[in-house]
Amino acid sequence: MANTGPVKVGLIGSQFQGDIHAASLEMVRHEAELVAVASPTPGNAAALAKRYRIPRVFTDYREMLREPDIEMVTITAPNRLHAQMAVDIAASGKHVVCEKPMAMTLEECDQMIEVARKQGVLLMYAEELFFTPKYLKAKEMADAGAFGKVHLVKQSEKHFGPHSEWFWDVERAGGGALMDLGCHGIAFCYWFLGRPAIKTVYCQLGTYVHGDKTRAEDDSLCILEFANGAVGLVEDSWTRRGGMDDRIEVYGDAGVTYANLHMGNALPTYSESGYGYAVEKAPTTTG
Ligand SMILES: NC(=O)c1ccc[n+]([C@@H]2O[C@H](COP(=O)([O-])OP(=O)(O)OC[C@H]3O[C@@H](n4cnc5c(N)ncnc54)[C@H](O)[C@@H]3O)[C@@H](O)[C@H]2O)c1
Repeated sequence: MANTGPVKVGLIGSQFQGDIHAASLEMVRHEAELVAVASPTPGNAAALAKRYRIPRVFTDYREMLREPDIEMVTITAPNRLHAQMAVDIAASGKHVVCEKPMAMTLEECDQMIEVARKQGVLLMYAEELFFTPKYLKAKEMADAGAFGKVHLVKQSEKHFGPHSEWFWDVERAGGGALMDLGCHGIAFCYWFLGRPAIKTVYCQLGTYVHGDKTRAEDDSLCILEFANGAVGLVEDSWTRRGGMDDRIEVYGDAGVTYANLHMGNALPTYSESGYGYAVEKAPTTTG
């Protein structure tokens, strides 16, 4: 009989993002129940299981896929493994959530989509920038006409480089800063502008600081030209000292807004026409 309670979830991976998925699932217990975790290094999955009271622990994710009651599996393993894991999960009849980047190549992505389709399961890509309150607010204002016709959307994500050694290896990561961080910015610009077709892409990549660790780029600029005439500028870097920086800028013919994900709690904004709601007791949103 179909489960009508919270979705039973299995987690692959137990480190940085595994912990974030476990913590996030704990916040929506009425909707999802994390019942198992799989991670190959002995002791790691068990440690995560202890922290989040996850009842079942596996070292091989394929064994976890044999558990008949698990309905959805979320992948927080290195990029090189995403495609094979997604295919295995879908083939076992379970829904898939996959961390970014979706896979290493477009061919792998196509294969994932094909197997999920054939098996009749959902293949979900876990992009989170669309859910951050400040960026959502910026989109809400744009959709309400606050900035008029938007012609430029910028997103940038920068820090001094990844926490795990596999990210530096292009064979396991698929690329450098653009692959690691740019997938957020590209998805963001595309979403923000209402998913128009992309006409042209220009990228400038360079290795400036971490050439001793990687043959991938540690800094990148990516310019996307969309079919509706707007431009997206995505800046990503593994060379920024001082921790993570994540920000956006939106420019239109009637206004502008800036949002910094980690600093302050407001979006400095100018709007010729005004928009829905700014703050309690503000009589106008013009200017
Ligand atoms: N959305 C985001 O903002 C965000 C942030 C960080 C990482 N990520 C993504 O999450 C994924 C994991 O990154 P991370 O930072 O957690 O890396 P990590 O190195 O901290 O953890 C990787 C995990 O994968 C496990 N793993 C390795 N081989 C495995 C295998 N064969 N079977 C099962 N598990 C295996 C490791 O044991 C470990 O638990 C990557 O694809 C990364 O791009 C996304």
